[in-house]
Amino acid sequence: MDLQYPGKRPLAEIREELLAASAEARDLPSDFETGLAVTGDNYEVMLSLLRKFAGKIDLIYTDPPFNTRSCFFRGEDRVSTVSHGKSDRVAYNDSMPMDQYLEFMRVRFCLMHLLLGESGSLYLHIDNRAGPYLRILLDEVFGIDNFLNDISRVKCNPKNFSRAGYGNYKDVIYFYAKNRDQVIFNGVTESYSEEDIARLYRKKDARGRRYTTVPCHAPGESAGETGGLFRNQLPPPGRHWRYAPSVLADLDEKGLIEWSATGVPRIIRYADDAAGKKIQDIWLNYKDPQYPRYPTEKNSEMLEMIVRQSSRENSLIMDPFAGSGSFLSAGISQGRRVIGIDSSPEAMTVISERPELRGLKFADMSRAGVPDPDAL
Ligand SMILES: C[S@@+](CC[C@H](N)C(=O)[O-])C[C@H]1O[C@@H](n2cnc3c(N)ncnc32)[C@H](O)[C@@H]1O
Repeated sequence: MDLQYPGKRPLAEIREELLAASAEARDLPSDFETGLAVTGDNYEVMLSLLRKFAGKIDLIYTDPPFNTRSCFFRGEDRVSTVSHGKSDRVAYNDSMPMDQYLEFMRVRFCLMHLLLGESGSLYLHIDNRAGPYLRILLDEVFGIDNFLNDISRVKCNPKNFSRAGYGNYKDVIYFYAKNRDQVIFNGVTESYSEEDIARLYRKKDARGRRYTTVPCHAPGESAGETGGLFRNQLPPPGRHWRYAPSVLADLDEKGLIEWSATGVPRIIRYADDAAGKKIQDIWLNYKDPQYPRYPTEKNSEMLEMIVRQSSRENSLIMDPFAGSGSFLSAGISQGRRVIGIDSSPEAMTVISERPELRGLKFADMSRAGVPDPDAL
């Protein structure tokens, strides 16, 4: 599968060029404790990072411009797109010819791939217009086998615009492993809602605790221990006990086996002991903030969940299009070391004003931060 557009270069050529350019790139501080926030084009910043951090990053969350053909503004007390006040400042401009946008992203995907460690992963947050094209580019850079999920995320309340077409209230997140056999995935679950509990745990014990029961046996006969007697019963034909009879007897003594009137045992599972439910690929509960501090700021609980799911205590994690720094903040709250990059001085102002991010080391690699040789 190949996506064709003008100006598309072979991947091997891009990778070679990036490695050569990183050898010449500017040095960045690498002795930061909690994290690093860099103002600048993430192409140049990631080239610099490659010198010390190639293969060292466990998780990248990236929420780039979606090429919406809009300009995003930020004023004293509000953020906006189309309409803006005279004193509002440009946060970022989101408009490129499509072929340039695709190659801009593809080169950056290569840099991210080089920075990720073998157990690392990438979450690309994107909309339904740019998304399908970028997914093909990710398949090229990460390998189709390392695609793990496309997640639909409900971003806002339903819309009632009059234009033709269904309301769009979701965006998408593509989740790729650097190497799917080694990827960090911590099995973080989400808690059951009250409706889930009422539906899944229909019974109540004498103290009002909700529970359900599951069979003591499972398909397949066994000639071993789990095919033997439990309370003088053999498992039904074609089945074996789920646990050794001694374990079932222990559960029975603890009151965790329910016996039917006809003497059939079932294991009791209490709702308040349940670990939670596996997170699926439609995310309903992570709408974006109603009063963001920065345009297109993402839901912080979603970002925290991603950090807990796909990195470890002390992992180094990165957001190369950091915006308001919400992902950096999620990382710090979970004890991770973070790197954030944004080319917008407005974004860096927001990041530097967040109290939880004050401990970051700040560096400037923007044009404004590079000494002008003509002025020397
Ligand atoms: C969609 S916003 C990110 C919002 C962020 N996820 C948040 O929760 O606040 C995209 C950001 O990418 C930044 N950006 C655009 N081009 C960039 C580049 N070449 N290098 C670094 N940052 C860039 C923009 O300034 C903007 O802040």
